Amino acid sequence: MAKPVNAFTCTACGASHKKWAGRCEACGEWNSISEEAPLSQGPGRGLGAAKGRAVPLSPLTSDEAPPPRTDSGMAELDRVLGGGLVPGSAILVGGDPGIGKSTLLLQGAAAFARRGLQAVYISGEEAGAQIRLRAQRLGLTDAPMRLGTETNLRDILTTLDQERPDLAVIDSVQTLWSDQVEAAPGSVAQVRAAAHELVTFAKSRGVSVVLVGHVTKEGQIAGPRVVEHMVDTVLYFEGERGHQFRILRSVKNRFGPAGEIGVFEMTGAGLAEVSNPSALFLSERGQPSPGSAVFAGIEGTRPVLTEIQALVAPSTLASPRRTVVGLDSGRVSTILAVLESRCGIPFAGLDVFLNVAGGMRVNEPAADLAIAGALLSAREDSALPADCVLFGEISLSGALRPVAQAENRLKEAQKLGFSQAILPEARKVEGETGMSLMGISDLTGFVGDVFGA
Ligand code: TYD
Ligand code: MG
Repeated sequence: MAKPVNAFTCTACGASHKKWAGRCEACGEWNSISEEAPLSQGPGRGLGAAKGRAVPLSPLTSDEAPPPRTDSGMAELDRVLGGGLVPGSAILVGGDPGIGKSTLLLQGAAAFARRGLQAVYISGEEAGAQIRLRAQRLGLTDAPMRLGTETNLRDILTTLDQERPDLAVIDSVQTLWSDQVEAAPGSVAQVRAAAHELVTFAKSRGVSVVLVGHVTKEGQIAGPRVVEHMVDTVLYFEGERGHQFRILRSVKNRFGPAGEIGVFEMTGAGLAEVSNPSALFLSERGQPSPGSAVFAGIEGTRPVLTEIQALVAPSTLASPRRTVVGLDSGRVSTILAVLESRCGIPFAGLDVFLNVAGGMRVNEPAADLAIAGALLSAREDSALPADCVLFGEISLSGALRPVAQAENRLKEAQKLGFSQAILPEARKVEGETGMSLMGISDLTGFVGDVFGA
């Protein structure tokens, strides 16, 4: 038999390549390709003459009731899960090291345990004493959950099969190793095999399994994207290190809407829920200042107001800086280009800095108008009214496109004391909002009406 040839796999996305390359063609990541033993092809040689078993096929109708969900009592966590925990679901929680994943899941598991679920937390990263100390600090010691420290996949599966808990947290999938796979823990092959075994176990035994995955910048450790397609729900825990706010975001959810967020604050006693994120994100806003625009956004099913801050300053560089934090830099470049070529407002020779206050990330195209507003306000050194929110998508022609859920955005803005809104004209807002609305059909009109330029 021919000797199996080693495969080259991207540790970021799991794509396999024939040979080593500096950059993965599939995901564009640099330095992420490593050499690994190939996955076993199994005893047979593909689909040959041997017959398989016929799979039973059945109609779509079902008289089974939807599975009962369990609330943790942590509203922010339940919302992101799509309304509580579904039995037998496989959930991946990804995030940068040190962002607070272990803290979140220890608190979450304890909350579910207090609601009557059998919860088990298995750590391959920290010693039992260390976790108990943390639990003590977080005031969780009375929660009826149990703790284990192990990295051997076979032992973990045996334990879970014996105990049959309702919920098992595995922290983290990158520390697990299976003796079936000839590769180091953390390699794509190991992470894939471990996730596959655990997800299969979850489905067949009705045990909900939460896998923790560190996002890795580079190197030989597989990132959470390798297992994203295997699980039902993918959550990312995000936040800026320097800020205390943490956002749990669902990027995939087979049991609820994706794009939902839960907001937490990292305190000395663990993660505290933030039930009114808009108030929090705007709390540091002082007097109206040039370069600041309030965006009325929608995150998942919930309206969230954020402040977009811009600074525009003369540049000494041949190619001026474009520093963007919390927004898509491609989108910002497009808006700058539209302002230049459609409205005749040049940004050449100017450094541009853009930032979303509070460490929030805004991905909605509806933020375009607020970004343009912040940029213009900074460039013209003229503040927008303090009680004004903006939203609307800008097309390449400079026209303003209507966005979804205008009423919800306006309602949230009004609740927080805003009385004016600048929005796309084409959008007819139903119902009496009580706010003064300024409809804009294209960006040139906006520049003229708002900044008199
Ligand atoms: P941790 O949950 O260990 O992160 P991860 O599992 O994602 O690597 O959280 C680590 C950080 O959180 C650490 O820098 C300290 C901080 N922290 C607090 O500020 N307050 C707390 O109560 C806890 C438990 C952690
Ligand atoms: Mg951890």
